[in-house]
Amino acid sequence: MHALGSRALDLVIRHFECNRDDPVAQTLTREQTEAMLRTPLPEHGTPVNDLLDILARDVFPNSFKADHPRFYSFVPSPTNFVSVVGDFLTSGHNVFAGHWLASSAASQIELNVLDWLKELCGLPAEGGGILVSGGSMANLSAIAAAREARLGGPNEHAVVYCSDQTHSSMAKGLRIIGFRPEQRRTVATDEGFRLSIPALEAAIATDRAAGRLPFCVVANGGTTNTGAVDPLDALADVCEREGLWLHVDGAYGAAAVLTERGRTALTGLGRADSITLDPHKWLFQPYELGCLLVRDANVLYSAFRVDDDDHADYLADVRRHVAKDVNFFERGVQLTRSFKALKLWLSMRTFGLAEFRRAIDVGFDMADLAERTLRADGRWAIVTPSQMGVLTFRWHDPSRPDAEVDRITQQTVELMRADGYALVMSTTLRGRPALRMCPINPATTAAEITETIARLARFSLEAAR
Ligand SMILES: Cc1ncc(COP(=O)(O)O)c(C=O)c1O
Repeated sequence: MHALGSRALDLVIRHFECNRDDPVAQTLTREQTEAMLRTPLPEHGTPVNDLLDILARDVFPNSFKADHPRFYSFVPSPTNFVSVVGDFLTSGHNVFAGHWLASSAASQIELNVLDWLKELCGLPAEGGGILVSGGSMANLSAIAAAREARLGGPNEHAVVYCSDQTHSSMAKGLRIIGFRPEQRRTVATDEGFRLSIPALEAAIATDRAAGRLPFCVVANGGTTNTGAVDPLDALADVCEREGLWLHVDGAYGAAAVLTERGRTALTGLGRADSITLDPHKWLFQPYELGCLLVRDANVLYSAFRVDDDDHADYLADVRRHVAKDVNFFERGVQLTRSFKALKLWLSMRTFGLAEFRRAIDVGFDMADLAERTLRADGRWAIVTPSQMGVLTFRWHDPSRPDAEVDRITQQTVELMRADGYALVMSTTLRGRPALRMCPINPATTAAEITETIARLARFSLEAAR
């Protein structure tokens, strides 16, 4: 165990120490991976060190490194070594964290961590939550809880309001739990990609007039596309007035509430009925760790409880033993679940909130620096300014038609990816591609931001030739 553990530890330490010098994002073709990694059913064993060699040589290098200081695409996942150790301890001890009887102390730690996150988001003491795999599961669970709390279950007349910037996991979640497409209203956003209140109010009125049942608004606490935060306070007013559930998808952005800038942008967050917040995004945890927080802990139990006539015969002792609201299997989808809170607890206690705050602030600063650098260069058009650590932009050449600029954008992405220095990809805004940077890794340096932008300019010029 020592020898194997030590080899594995060396690999991970190497990853942390050399990450900056390794390629950011390598992808093989299916043909290459088949040739390299396909093996038949392993009737007989292979020395584990040989398998670690395969992982080190063929597998880990051929993946996106979301924790690389020059990974600026999607939502990066800059991790920390203490949380990685937490994951090792979690799996090494294999605590069953589905109910209190099996995991009293581990469940206490999860309750504690949830209380910290709840407090940071401004939810009341009666609130609750659960740690889940990620934002998709948190969003799905939120709507399932909202539907149970407000409608007592599925209702064919119920309508959910999202914006045209809402993350796709919400549409997917709604579909899975039985909402038809016509029960999901896509509300327009304003020029800043924030959900438009007048458009929302008009949609609610139209639905009510048609006999439908508006019941939930999904707001963005930082959109993935542009970092835009919907007007949460005003949305909470609308929801209060209309009797609607307010869910805030802050999978990416809610963690920024730790900082002054994030708190200001997220004003009104604490008025939500439910919040998605992913520690595996801007709270520096390794995958997979998402979180659903709710204003009233009972709503999770109502949606995810196991009833007496559900034939949970062998769980009867467990369910008799303790108060209902601390059995995590009755707060969410999973029965068997790992001690998910360990790594977050370990890292938050090790570093303290001040260090997390500092690390998040670096992300805001790097996105601001990127915007300043692009503006100073003069050859770029900012599509959306730096907000919540995200900015979007494209090559500025008024002499060319939009279609030509769009082609330059797309070709720049490909040239940049082939170059390998940094990963910058595009998103689509109002039907047109734009380059997008999300530089939230606290290890990123100012020089890396300026060099990335210098290379983007070089590749855009090349594409324009
Ligand atoms: C705003 C938002 N919501 C939800 C999700 C989905 O989260 P996950 O990928 O953890 O399932 C993401 C992922 O990037 C996101 O940015």
